[in-house]
Amino acid sequence: MWLSADAVWMAYTIFFGRHMAGTQKSPRKDVRRPVWAEVSLGALTHNFQSIRKYVNPPEEKRKTPRKILSIVKGNGYGHGGPEVAKALEKAGSDWFGVTCTDEGIAVRKAGVRKPVLILTSFVPGEEMRLVEHDLTAVLHRCEQLALLDRAAGRRGGKKRVPFHLKIDTGMNRLGIAASDVECFARQLGKCKHLELTGIFSHFASSEVFTNTAVGQQTREQEERFYGAVERLRALGVDPGIIHLANSAAIVTRPETWADMVRPGAILYGYHPGYDPMEMREEAEKRLPLKPVMSLRSRIISMRNVPAGAGVGYNATFVPKRPSRIGVLAAGYGDGIHRSLGNRGNVLLRGKLVPIVGIISMDVTMIDVTDVPDAEIGDAATIYGTDGTASLLANFVARSIGTVTSDLLCAVSQRVPRLYVL
Ligand SMILES: Cc1ncc(COP(=O)(O)O)c(C=O)c1O
Repeated sequence: MWLSADAVWMAYTIFFGRHMAGTQKSPRKDVRRPVWAEVSLGALTHNFQSIRKYVNPPEEKRKTPRKILSIVKGNGYGHGGPEVAKALEKAGSDWFGVTCTDEGIAVRKAGVRKPVLILTSFVPGEEMRLVEHDLTAVLHRCEQLALLDRAAGRRGGKKRVPFHLKIDTGMNRLGIAASDVECFARQLGKCKHLELTGIFSHFASSEVFTNTAVGQQTREQEERFYGAVERLRALGVDPGIIHLANSAAIVTRPETWADMVRPGAILYGYHPGYDPMEMREEAEKRLPLKPVMSLRSRIISMRNVPAGAGVGYNATFVPKRPSRIGVLAAGYGDGIHRSLGNRGNVLLRGKLVPIVGIISMDVTMIDVTDVPDAEIGDAATIYGTDGTASLLANFVARSIGTVTSDLLCAVSQRVPRLYVL
């Protein structure tokens, strides 16, 4: 069922006893600035279930279903990490991935019980917090073994503290080199309180399929990774759960799925940009997704601007005709990318209308001349869906040379998230 932006906002405001500015007789303390991110938990659950089904094709006849580690770092790609993790746990997610201890603790505080992997690991001194909150550390340097082992020993108890090992297979970012596996195994042998329960790597270019060095990189990373896994096994170390695949690899490289996959972008409804671009259509057919977030704001002011007058900072927009300019209560301080100024559009009353002038921290101007009914109070969709119309974040991201996750993560703290079914 499609609910209009207005229906969702009204339900929200009525539920919390709030009303739109200007509709009540006496001022209320709970009236708020009209900018919000609508997060569809129905779409999120749909995406999760589609991914789980996709990576567990019946013809594979696995004994146990392949696991899903839902990436909820970066505040759940801007959707609200704890809330998203809670909904995904209910939907059956096996694991969660966050970047740091603080994000992990926030997910735990929301009541999530499934394992939480701390992808960017810990810095010295932080390891006790990690152990206390039952968060699974990633080790990406051999020296971290001793630190985590000491914290695990201080915690006491018979059960060893689990951790995952990250292998740098060619991204040259985080992880131990495949050639350091022997050294790692030797040091692990001295750790009485730790247990390796998983091993993984991260692909640098799994979305690239060109006949170039970058197009070959995923294959090479895989080979290096499995080489390291085999060496570890030969040294008598059980690597535990093996995982590699991010969104692009999940959709297009079934040979990388291993024991568990780690979807990020696709959970939130967006396929990554493929190279060549034509692959997107095929990917969308294979795994249809629903965008989860719609970022919206209302027109709070409207003015008639004569032809030739400048609009906004530095007068970078000068209309050629008499124009009606609406002012939205959202700017780059809310997460509207500043480079959309004079370039992007918003959805208003089912139509695309241009963003004009430089985007300010708190407001954005739109040219509504071609939408004669537009009025103060109208909700505009900056990206997402509105009824059957859509202005997708991946399209917006591409138009300004960035990636969808950049736009989604940019939605700032002062923007309330409204969770709808
Ligand atoms: C280790 C790791 N795994 C998985 C992901 C998910 O990536 P994507 O959003 O491409 O699915 C990320 C995101 O950067 C990551 O850092």
